Amino acid sequence: MSTNKEQQAFGSLSPAVMRASTVVFDSLEDFVQRKKRQPDGFSYGVTGTPTARLLERRIAELEDGQHCVIAPSGAAALMTTVMGFVRGGDHMLVSASCYGTLKTFAEKWLARMNVEVELYKPAIGAEIEALIKPNTKMICMESPGTVTMEMQDIPAIARVAKKHGVLTMLDNTWASPLGFKPLQHGVDFSIEAATKFFSGHSDVLMGSITMNNHEHYDVLRETQSILGQQVSPEDCFLVLRGMETLALRVNAQGESTLAVARYLEKHPLVERVMYPPLESDPGHAIWKRDFNTNGCLFSLVLKPGPERAFHAFFDALKHFVIGASWGGVHSLAAYYPAALQANRPYPATDQPVVRLSIGLEGAEALQMDLEQALAAYGNALSSK
Ligand SMILES: Cc1ncc(COP(=O)(O)O)c(C=O)c1O
Repeated sequence: MSTNKEQQAFGSLSPAVMRASTVVFDSLEDFVQRKKRQPDGFSYGVTGTPTARLLERRIAELEDGQHCVIAPSGAAALMTTVMGFVRGGDHMLVSASCYGTLKTFAEKWLARMNVEVELYKPAIGAEIEALIKPNTKMICMESPGTVTMEMQDIPAIARVAKKHGVLTMLDNTWASPLGFKPLQHGVDFSIEAATKFFSGHSDVLMGSITMNNHEHYDVLRETQSILGQQVSPEDCFLVLRGMETLALRVNAQGESTLAVARYLEKHPLVERVMYPPLESDPGHAIWKRDFNTNGCLFSLVLKPGPERAFHAFFDALKHFVIGASWGGVHSLAAYYPAALQANRPYPATDQPVVRLSIGLEGAEALQMDLEQALAAYGNALSSK
C-alpha cells in the first residue's frame, strides 16, 4: 500500500500538518524495532507526530531548554508535570497565587490521594526553606501570580529547592520565554499556556513543558502518552504560526500595556494597579532584576462600589470584550469578585478585581474606552 512519503518530501516553507493515529512500517523488522529505530519515538499517534515534534523543538529553543513536551492545554501541561513526579506520601508546596485549576487539582484530587498539599505566601523568597520537609517533592510557582500579580523571587526559591533535592516548576505564561527564561534560573520545568501569547489569536488551547534533564523528559513523555494527552496537528500548526509573530506582539502589546497601566494609575477612581512593571508595585524590584518584557496582563482595584457599578463599567466597554482569557490580539476584561480573594490564603486584596489583557488596538483607543467606562462606574457610584 502506498504511504504518504512523496507528500512528506514536498518542501514547503510552512510546516506540514501530519495527522496520524496509525504509524506504518516497511517491514516486520522495522515494526519490531520501532522504538529503537525512531529516535523521536513515533510508534502510534498518542506519542506525537512530526508536526508536534517541530513545535516542541521551537519551544525548547525559545526557552533555552533541551526537551519539550506539549499538552492539549496550559492546564494539562501543569497537571501532567505534577502527575509525572508527585505520588501519595509526598509533600507539595504550591504558591497561593498559582492558577486556580492547579490549586483545585492539588487540594481536591491530590490531597485525597494522600499528597500533603501546602499553599505558601507568594512573597516568601528564600524563606521557603523553613517549609521544606524530608518528603517535599515539588514546588509549584507562578510569577506574576494569576489575577493579583504577585512577583516571586524565582532564583532564590530554585536555589533552596536544588539544595534539598526538590523539583520546581514555574508557570511562565505571563512573561513568555522572551521575558524570562526559567531554566536559566535553576527551575526544572518551565510551563507555558501556549493558549495565550504563543498562539496569540484566542482560537486554540495548548500547553508546553520545557526542561533540560533527559530523565525528566522520559518520565513526562511517558506520562503524556499514558494520560492520552496528545494534541492535534492542526492546533500545533496554529501555535507554530502564532510563534512567527510572538516577539512583535509581545513588544507591541507590552508597550501599550505599560501606557494604559500608567494612565489608570493616575485615575481618581482607581485605587490600585497590580502590575510589576510599575514602580509603585511591590514586585517591581524583582521584575526589574529578572524580567525583560512588560507582559500584556494586569489587574485593577477600583474605588469601592456596589456590584451594579461594576456592571455599568463592564457593559460600557467598547474595545475591550468581556472574557476570562488573555494574551491575544484583542483586548479583554474580566471580573473577579471579592469572595474569590477572601477564599484564598494570603490574599493580595479584599476587594473585587478587574483584570485587563491588552491587545493590539493601540493604547490611545483603549485609554479612551476605559475613560468612558470609568465615567459610567463613577455615575453608578453617585446614583442611588
Ligand atoms: C497563568 C495561566 N496558566 C495556565 C492557564 C491555563 O491555560 P489553558 O486555558 O490553556 O488551560 C491559564 C489560563 O487562563 C493561565 O492564565
